[in-house]
Amino acid sequence: MDAGVHGTGFTARELSWQTGSEITGLDLRQADATAQGTIDALWQLLGQRGILLFRDQTLDHGQHLAFTRRFGALAKTGLLGRHAPPGYPDLFMVSNIKTNGIRSETENAAQQWHSDQSFLEVPARASLFRCVHAPQYGGDTMFANMYQAHDALSEGMRAALRPMRAFHTLFSSRTLARRARKPFSSVQEDELQRLSGALHPVLRRHSDTGRMTLYVSEQMVDHFEGWSVEESAPLLDYLFALAVRPAHTYRHRWQPGDLIMWDNRCSMHYAPIDYDFAALDAPENRRLMFRSTLA
Ligand code: SIN
Repeated sequence: MDAGVHGTGFTARELSWQTGSEITGLDLRQADATAQGTIDALWQLLGQRGILLFRDQTLDHGQHLAFTRRFGALAKTGLLGRHAPPGYPDLFMVSNIKTNGIRSETENAAQQWHSDQSFLEVPARASLFRCVHAPQYGGDTMFANMYQAHDALSEGMRAALRPMRAFHTLFSSRTLARRARKPFSSVQEDELQRLSGALHPVLRRHSDTGRMTLYVSEQMVDHFEGWSVEESAPLLDYLFALAVRPAHTYRHRWQPGDLIMWDNRCSMHYAPIDYDFAALDAPENRRLMFRSTLA
């Protein structure tokens, strides 16, 4: 359906059956010159395909943010502001590069499946992730299609889930219990306590396409509203596994110059952290990425 979108200055090629399109024909440095019709068409395609890949883009931080702003206001960075590159508080730097011999807190920023900022009342709509250095192998990002997850549920299960809400928090009890090494480990406990979570419907309608999605994630969801953590766990485990069945996913092998825009309303993502931790100091194992986030 999306091969060759006409009249918009770009071409789209599907990356997998249901998830992702690669966009060619655009130089994202020219964000200001990009016609509103092109931006609207990209946004529409994003809602359908969940992720858009732009290759061979050599953006600097300012150009990355300028392109992001064409789609709307930036999200508040919150805790991620601690990992902004100097002078660019709206960017989140994800890196496995050591500083003075100390490992980066963001080397494992996406070690569980999640949708960005789902712990907020109004989560992030979309995120734009740009690759500067990719390791010689590993360092991939995986994406799960949450339309497909919804559609794979039986009508009986959908009916049961329809009235339910789930509590999303950045530090869910299952996440904290499972992690060998916590992200943001230097954040003070009292700072963590102040972080609240948010209740969201388990099945949500995408605000642009009108399609239903499953909206739970392994990293953020703690329990169902009115259920204990223990009671919630078996059903959540089932839903998490369903969401990330291989047929529902696309795995991206990064190249420097790649920029992926993902729609947090209909996708989750996860970084398998499949590179050689014992050889992090080798330049060929460096992973350096920057993310902007749309409110
Ligand atoms: C993120 O969740 O923003 C980071 C994803 C990644 O490291 O691949």
